[in-house]
This record gives sequence, structure tokens and C-alpha cells, in this order.
Amino acid sequence: MATIRRIKGTQDILPGESEQWVALETLIRETMRVYNFKELRTPVFEKTELFARGIGQLTDIVSKEMYTFFDRGNKQLTLKPEMTAPIMRAYLENKLYAKSPVNKFFYIAPLFRQENPQAGRLRQFHQFGAETLGTAYPEADAEMIDLALNIYRRAGLENLNLRINSVGDVTCRLPYKKLLQDYIRPNLHLYCQDCQRRFDDNPLRILDCKKETCSALNQKAPRLVDHLCEECHTHYHRLKQHLDALQISYDEDPYLVRGLDYYTRTVFEITSEALGAQNAICGGGRYDLLAEELGGQPTPAVGFASGIERLLLIARHQNLHLAPAQRLDVFIITMGETARQKSLSWLKTLRQAGFLSETDFLGRSVKAQMREANRQQARFVLLAGEEELERKTFSLKIMDRSQQISVPFANLIETLESLANE
Ligand code: HAM
Repeated sequence: MATIRRIKGTQDILPGESEQWVALETLIRETMRVYNFKELRTPVFEKTELFARGIGQLTDIVSKEMYTFFDRGNKQLTLKPEMTAPIMRAYLENKLYAKSPVNKFFYIAPLFRQENPQAGRLRQFHQFGAETLGTAYPEADAEMIDLALNIYRRAGLENLNLRINSVGDVTCRLPYKKLLQDYIRPNLHLYCQDCQRRFDDNPLRILDCKKETCSALNQKAPRLVDHLCEECHTHYHRLKQHLDALQISYDEDPYLVRGLDYYTRTVFEITSEALGAQNAICGGGRYDLLAEELGGQPTPAVGFASGIERLLLIARHQNLHLAPAQRLDVFIITMGETARQKSLSWLKTLRQAGFLSETDFLGRSVKAQMREANRQQARFVLLAGEEELERKTFSLKIMDRSQQISVPFANLIETLESLANE
């Protein structure tokens, strides 16, 4: 019978790799802590409507990529493809605005999008991210960018590129949309199918098309940054001042438009050439209208999300090790039945004292047990056989020094502790 394989576009995170994940998650949590962001966990599935309304019906995510299904009660549900809409839902539903005027949340979560799998593009992937709800001030936007970059810096990532733009608000976007449509209309038939489909409702996304013909046609398109209303212009200007003050370098990309519809004013992306075609490690921006879109009170907000798999791809590319390789402290080699019987209680004593310890579970020869201890790079090997049992003394091999000493049972932990600290 054929073995069952994992679903295309999903990954098993195996030992060796999982340690990198834990180390990264610890670094993320520690950084979020000092920036005063609190963790908010939301369910893995939500009502489909949340994403349809939140992210936008015409976006690729909602129109082609969501894992949507009907449950047995005929409710339409979706495995979450992103975290911003669920965070906003949880914030409104739990009335977190009543507790504090500004709320700062972070998350580390699995997400689901039915995209065509390729390097750096998965169907189940993971993001960490942060969202600040309740302030329209550009300081919050700058703090977001600083936070994301700080996590990357602490992880050791190099050569990242930050691009920023402002996509305005309702006041300036409407007249700009008309300008853009007037520019595109004469050549609309030359644009790709996707762009033609977006022309009426979402022409801004045409600027983001990666196809060569479309981006060539867009070369001279009017730029929203040149048509921002005064408030959006000031907001963008202040953000840049803050980034300068924080010594964060950035490129202004007047055609940067993100793939989710909720953005207003600030948008940004962080990319790395090490990632190849899927070069974005981080995306984010301001979404001042999302709360109202979801039926809540007006709540200005800003956030970012970063792909964890993509971060780890860059780390691998740079040969970075986020977690040091793990060595065994003690391996117990037993000779004979009585010693084997005792090995579990010895292990318990060692483990209670904090030593990463192991023994043989296969009844192997001493030689094979020694090979296993070497394979696991044990620092110390305890040998216990009839003779040791009789004398109530272990033979202890200090592997790095190729030295062997005798240690009375009663002195084991004390001896190991002093050897380990040498
Ligand atoms: P996004 O640009 O869709 O934004 O995703 C953010 C990051 O998630 C991407 O830059 C990428 O690193 C990673 N990512 C996205 N899709 C995949 C995939 N299929 N496989 C692997 N990694 C992927 C958002 O999700 C917004 N919620 C960000 C945000 C937060 N905006 C405001 N607050």
C-alpha cells in the first residue's frame, strides 16, 4: 500500500530545524516584550465573511486562495489566510478598546493560502507580526518598521531592503483613481487579464502587477504620492522624518501597492535578494478603515507581518545558526540486566539536576552503546556494570579529555556539576 504523504505546499519541521524555530520564536517574544506588545491568539478558522469584508473580495487572497469550506451545520468557514482581520475582530468583539486607548498586539501563527507552491511560497506557512490599534500618529508606523527591522537585526539578517509609500485615504484616493484610469484606459487592451479585471474597482492594484508588459505600460503612470491630500502628505512626511531620526534607511517606491485592500496611508515592504522570486520577507501598513468595515467604531491602526519560513531561508542562505547544535550531557552505558534495571532511576536523578541525559533502549553491546554516545556527542559517559554496582561507583568518561575516573554513586551530581563548570 502506498504511504500517505503530506499535503502539497505544507512542511514537516523536523528536529534540527525545529530548534531554529524555537530560538527564533524566543527572540521574537523577547523583542516584542521590550517594545511592550502583548500576545493575542485567535482561532485557526473564522467565518469566511471576516476575510471577504476585511481583505477585500477582489484581492487574490479572497478570490482565489482561501481554504473555505462548509461545516456540518452548513456554516461557511475559512482557515485564516492572515492575522490582521482576526486581530481586529477579536479587539472589537472583546471590547479591548475599553481597557486602553491604544492596544499593541503581536502574534506567531500558522496561516493558509492555496497558492502555487514554490521556494518561499507555501500553502501552510507561518507569520509573526504586530498590530497597534487606536492611534493614527505616524510614530506608531515608525515604531512598527523599527520593530520588524530590529528582530531581523537580532537574528543576524543582512542586506534587507525597506520600501515605503503612502496610498492616501478616501479623500485623495478617489480623484487619483480617476486620474489613473484615464492614464490606463487607452492601453487597457494591452494589459494582462488580471489587470483588466481590476480596472473598474481596484485600478491601484494594476500598479503592483509584476508582469513585464504591465509594468512597462505603468512606467509613466501618475503617482499617488504627488496627489496626496494635505493630511496624508503630512503623515507621510512625518513618517520619513521619524525613520531618518531612527537612522533607518529606506527607498520610496511610489508604485508600491499591497495585495490587501484595507490599507490607507503608509504601506511598506521589506525584501531580500536571497529569497529569489518571492522576495518579500515582510509587509505591512496602516489600515484606518478596517474597524468600520467590520462594523466597529473608527479605530486607526497599523501593523506588519513577516514570513517565518522566508526569514529562515535567508538565515540558511547566510549560514546563520539561530540555535546552537545540541549536545547530550550524559549517556549511560549499562552492562547487564541489573544495571539496565537501575538506569531509569539514574536518568531521573541526572535529569532532575538539569543534565540532558540518555541511555540505550535497545539492549545493545557496550561497543554499540559507545558509538551511540559518540553520535549524540555526549560530554560524559557513565559506565555501569556488575563491578560498578558492587562498589557503588560509576566509571565516568570525560569525553573531551579522553579521561576516565571513578565516582561514588552518592557524589555523581556534585562531580558532574563541578566538571561541567570547568
Ligand atoms: P502579506 O504581504 O500577505 O501581508 O504577508 C506578509 C508576509 O507573509 C510576506 O511578506 C511573506 O513573508 C509571508 N507570506 C505570505 N504568503 C506566504 C506564503 N504563501 N508562503 C510563505 N510566506 C508567505 C499580510 O499578511 C498582512 N496581514 C500584513 C499586515 C499586518 N498588514 C498590516 N498588519
